[in-house]
Amino acid sequence: MEDISLHILDVAENGIMAGADLIRISVEENSSGDRLTVAIEDNGRGMSPEFLKSVLDPFVTTRKTRKVGLGLSLFQQSVQEAEGEMNITSKPGVGTTLNATMKRSHIDRKPLGDLAGTMLCLIEGNADIDFVFDYSVDDRSYCLDTREIRCVIEDIPLNHPSVIRLIRDNLITGMKEINQA
Ligand SMILES: Nc1ncnc2c1ncn2[C@@H]1O[C@H](COP(=O)(O)OP(=O)(O)OP(=O)(O)O)[C@@H](O)[C@H]1O
Ligand SMILES: [Mg+2]
Repeated sequence: MEDISLHILDVAENGIMAGADLIRISVEENSSGDRLTVAIEDNGRGMSPEFLKSVLDPFVTTRKTRKVGLGLSLFQQSVQEAEGEMNITSKPGVGTTLNATMKRSHIDRKPLGDLAGTMLCLIEGNADIDFVFDYSVDDRSYCLDTREIRCVIEDIPLNHPSVIRLIRDNLITGMKEINQA
């Protein structure tokens, strides 16, 4: 996997597969502590403690289409290559949270990639699910919450082309401001 946004897409898809209707994604860049932190939380069906213990094994999957489940183990590998740690907590019936932290300046740290495009892809492809996206660089932060957008657009679906255009503009402008300050 070339970049972190693709790992995020993969983990968010796990939450979608687990029946979540709310997924929170947060990406935090901290320059003084030289950390990059990613957190993905879903309210899907969760995992039992026994299953959770084995979930980072590439041969553990509940997929019916193939025998390997690589999403989590590949993300863990990327994190570890950048002097990082990944931690997953889960509660059956409540949901799952993944936390990953890496050394931001590490030479092997994957680039963030197209975070705005990843969020857009998730929102467009899963219009019935709500997403909360938080992105921060030091003390500057940006947040996109599809629940707030839904309140404004009322019966128009979240993946209506004009709504998607609006979300895209908001993501691009908002994230640019954070990175330019
Ligand atoms: N958020 C989650 N909620 C519930 N179960 C999960 C969650 N994330 C992972 N799992 C379980 O762990 C298994 C392994 O996940 P992983 O992402 O490593 O592989 P996969 O999703 O099965 O396949 P791949 O990611 O390669 O497409 C999944 O098949 C699923 O059973
Ligand atoms: Mg997966």
